[in-house]
Amino acid sequence: MELPMFTGMPYPTGKEYHYPKAGEENPVITLYVVNLNGPLHTIEMRRPDDPRLREFYVTMVKWATTTKLAVNWLNRAQNISMLTLCEATTGVCTKKHEDESEGWLHRQNEKPLFSKDGLKLFFTRAIPQGGRGKFFHISMSISQPNTSMDTLQSITSGDWDITEVLAYDEESQLIYFLSTEAGPKQRHLYSADTFGSFNRRCLTCDLSDSCGYIGGSFCHNMGYFLLHCQGPDVPFLSIFQTQRDDDAVESQNTERLIEVHKLETNEMLKLTLDNMQMPIVEYHQIDKDDYTLSMQILKPAGFVETSHYPLLLLIDGTPGGQSVSERFHMDWATVLVSSFGAIVARCDGRGSGFQGTNLLHRIQKKVGVLEEQDQRDAINSDILNKPYIDKTRVGAFGKEYGGYITSLLLSDDLSPARCGAVLSPITDFELHASAFSERYLGMPKPDPRAYTMANLAHRAAQFLDKKFLIIHPTADEKVHFQHTAKLIAQLIHEKANYTLQIYPDEGHFIHNEGTRQHLSQSLVNFFEECFRLPERLFEEELDEENEDEG
Ligand SMILES: *[C@@H]1O[C@H](CO)[C@@H](O)[C@H](O)[C@H]1NC(C)=O
Ligand SMILES: *[C@@H]1O[C@H](CO)[C@@H](O)[C@H](O)[C@H]1NC(C)=O
Ligand SMILES: *[C@@H]1O[C@H](CO)[C@@H](O)[C@H](O)[C@H]1NC(C)=O
Repeated sequence: MELPMFTGMPYPTGKEYHYPKAGEENPVITLYVVNLNGPLHTIEMRRPDDPRLREFYVTMVKWATTTKLAVNWLNRAQNISMLTLCEATTGVCTKKHEDESEGWLHRQNEKPLFSKDGLKLFFTRAIPQGGRGKFFHISMSISQPNTSMDTLQSITSGDWDITEVLAYDEESQLIYFLSTEAGPKQRHLYSADTFGSFNRRCLTCDLSDSCGYIGGSFCHNMGYFLLHCQGPDVPFLSIFQTQRDDDAVESQNTERLIEVHKLETNEMLKLTLDNMQMPIVEYHQIDKDDYTLSMQILKPAGFVETSHYPLLLLIDGTPGGQSVSERFHMDWATVLVSSFGAIVARCDGRGSGFQGTNLLHRIQKKVGVLEEQDQRDAINSDILNKPYIDKTRVGAFGKEYGGYITSLLLSDDLSPARCGAVLSPITDFELHASAFSERYLGMPKPDPRAYTMANLAHRAAQFLDKKFLIIHPTADEKVHFQHTAKLIAQLIHEKANYTLQIYPDEGHFIHNEGTRQHLSQSLVNFFEECFRLPERLFEEELDEENEDEG
């Protein structure tokens, strides 16, 4: 792939780098261990001898002990994975676990945890939990010293996900992890016994109402936990100590967290926000036939039922992602709510994560269709029938995959959205990274139908009477500018109106602060204009008011 660079010299230059697109040749990789002690010695780690791994990815590498490393191998179709333990000195890899899936295998980059002797291995894998499919839980694999047999046990179960395995305490034999057991919007810290009946307890559920979304890490000797409260209120960082009551007869709730030191309380931010009209946040569940849509709605602080507000839908939609959570978040869309009286909605439907693999895998081979339908239904059947929403002023925004869904929504005749902005949109999955596109659509050859159906080009004629803003950095290394170029060529062919804003030589993750602010301001301006009441109407209203006064 060549990224053209335009500024700084008389002739543009090309920046070349490796980027396999869907269906193209993938790089062949080899994993080596190099001995840095004594004579230089390089050993190749040999992947399991299995024809199903003819083309493969290495999705995770981690030292297990000083001489062994854990390696995860995934086939190109991304539906077979092998977790192995490799001897660094010989390169021999022994299979510890194999996974297969009818859909794609999700969460393949996560690192397992080991006991110090390397004999116990903890990792997450998807396990069937009834009607909603599989959920991610902790498995414990114990190697028996003189046999090749391992015992495999699930430490947790239920229709919720482990989101991160944090640490294993050798002394107490407890495993610490974050999960969605308290609800998909939340993350809490738990500990569980790795013996007996695997009792578990929530350590942060009763901490405070202002803390529903926890992150953090343990120090090496397990004595302290660095707790990062990430929402719903202003985030803070604090050091906690775990305290166990070993004398307790009841095994439940014998462990709690004691705060020992506040690191970062974000007082300045809190003070600033206290003096501002911050949005009111609401959560809703919409029940569908066999799944639930979750929704987050931000209303202006001075919200009144009898007023009419414009609606902005923020679309993420990346498969396995989540846009409705209790995580603290503030950006240009918050400004639209607080300063321009818009109502902002986010919605997680089919294809989203943390609600079981059935919901996730439904989009396989037909990306976009169901996600768009869910977003549209959410507006049409739930939000728009609220009297306080102005049906004529509806907009949507999304980036990358969300930009793809936003474009679908905007070009849908049944959709009320009249303006949409997209940032670095994916418009054609054949132009996108092989590992991404093939995961959801398979190979484009020999049968390209899934790719053709997902291509936005078909929709070009349906953008005619919409306000469409496309923003794309020209040196976007992840979603190439080519996506936008191709879509625009179609829009021109169909004589459709669009506005294009580029950021010359800027990459996908815009690092330049000035550019970021420019982007935020552009989006605020675009939606402010889109949501502005027509002059005439405004004047009529004024006239009415004047008449009232008269
Ligand atoms: C994995 O995907 C390939 C290609 O789509 C398919 O032929 C194969 O049957 C799948 N394997 C499993 C275990 O589902
Ligand atoms: C495993 O084998 C070693 C030597 O071969 C022996 O010393 C040890 O006792 C054996 N351990 C078990 C648990 O059988
Ligand atoms: C493009 O925009 C102009 C000005 O808003 C409008 O007059 C024209 O009808 C639009 N064209 C299409 C094809 O919608």
